[in-house]
Amino acid sequence: RTARLIGAPTDYGANRRGVDMGPSAIRYAGLAAQLAKAGIDVEDAGDLNVPLADERAQDDSVELGDGQARFIDEVEEVSTLLADEVASALRDGSTPVALGGDHSIAIGSVRGSARDADIGVVWFDAHGDFNTPSTSPSGNVHGMPLAAALGIGDFEGVEWANARGLNPENVVLVGLRDLDETEKRVIRESDVTAYTMSDIDERGITPVVEDALAVAGEDTDGVHVSLDLDWLDPKEAPGVGTPVRGGVSYREAHAALEMVATSGVLRSLELVEVNPILDQHNETAELATELAASALGKRIL
Ligand code: ARG
Ligand code: MN
Ligand code: MN
Ligand code: MN
Repeated sequence: RTARLIGAPTDYGANRRGVDMGPSAIRYAGLAAQLAKAGIDVEDAGDLNVPLADERAQDDSVELGDGQARFIDEVEEVSTLLADEVASALRDGSTPVALGGDHSIAIGSVRGSARDADIGVVWFDAHGDFNTPSTSPSGNVHGMPLAAALGIGDFEGVEWANARGLNPENVVLVGLRDLDETEKRVIRESDVTAYTMSDIDERGITPVVEDALAVAGEDTDGVHVSLDLDWLDPKEAPGVGTPVRGGVSYREAHAALEMVATSGVLRSLELVEVNPILDQHNETAELATELAASALGKRIL
C-alpha cells in the first residue's frame, strides 16, 4: 500500500490558534518513518495552500441558515482544495492520509473520498461534530463537519460541503462523551450509529469497533476513518483544543486502529486537532503517528 500525506494547516474551524501547525508537528514526530516501519510506501503531497489566518479579520458573518459559522468562506476554500487532493490520491491508487488542522477539514476529506465511490465513515471523537450553524453554541465549524457532509439542516444542498456517496446508515461515531443538547436530538433523529463511552465501558473496545467497522463498511467501497485526537483521554493526548476527561486509553486506541487495518476496509484516513502549542513535548503528534501506523497495518510481532 502507498499512503499519500496531505497537510491541511488550518485553524479556521476551531477557536484555538495553533492547530494549524498540526501537519508540521505530525511530520516532525516521524509519521513517514512510522509508516515505512509498517511496510507502507509514503508519498508526501505537501501542504494545501491555505489562506493565512493572520490576514483574515475575525469573521462572524452568517452564511448558512440563521446561526453562526465563523470563517465559513475560508472553510469552503480549504475543503474544496482538500477534496480534490483526496480524490486524486485515490484515483492514483494511493491511500490519502489528511493531516489537520482542525476537524472542519473532514468536510473536504469525506467529500473527496466519496467523490467516485460509496463510502462509510468511522468517526473516533469525544464529540459528535453534528452541529449546524443554527444549533452550534460556538459557531466553530469543527463542531459541524459530519452534519455538513450529510447535508443536515442548514447544510442541505450545500454543494461544496455535501459528500455525494455517503449514506448516513454507513456513518458511525465511536467514543462520544460531550454532546450539545440539540446535537443529541439531531443525532438521535438521524440514521447514523452512535457508540458512546458508556458503550465502550459496558462492552469493551473490541466488540464496539468491530460493529462500527461492519456498519460503516456494509455495501460500500470502503471506509473513511476520521481520528480526532481528543478521542483519547487528555492524559494521553494533551495537545488538543477541546479536551474532555474520560477518553479511551493508549491501548484501547491502538486496539481500535489495529482493527481498522485488519478489517481491510480502510479507504482514507485523517488525523485532526493536534495542537502543538497546547501539547507536551509533541507527544500528541507522536501518538497520532503511531495510531496512523496501526491503522495502516503496523504489527507488534
Ligand atoms: N460541540 C462543540 C461545538 O460545537 C465542540 C466541538 C468540538 N469539535 C472538535 N472537532 N474538536 O463547538
Ligand atoms: Mn473532538
Ligand atoms: Mn447501505
Ligand atoms: Mn471532532
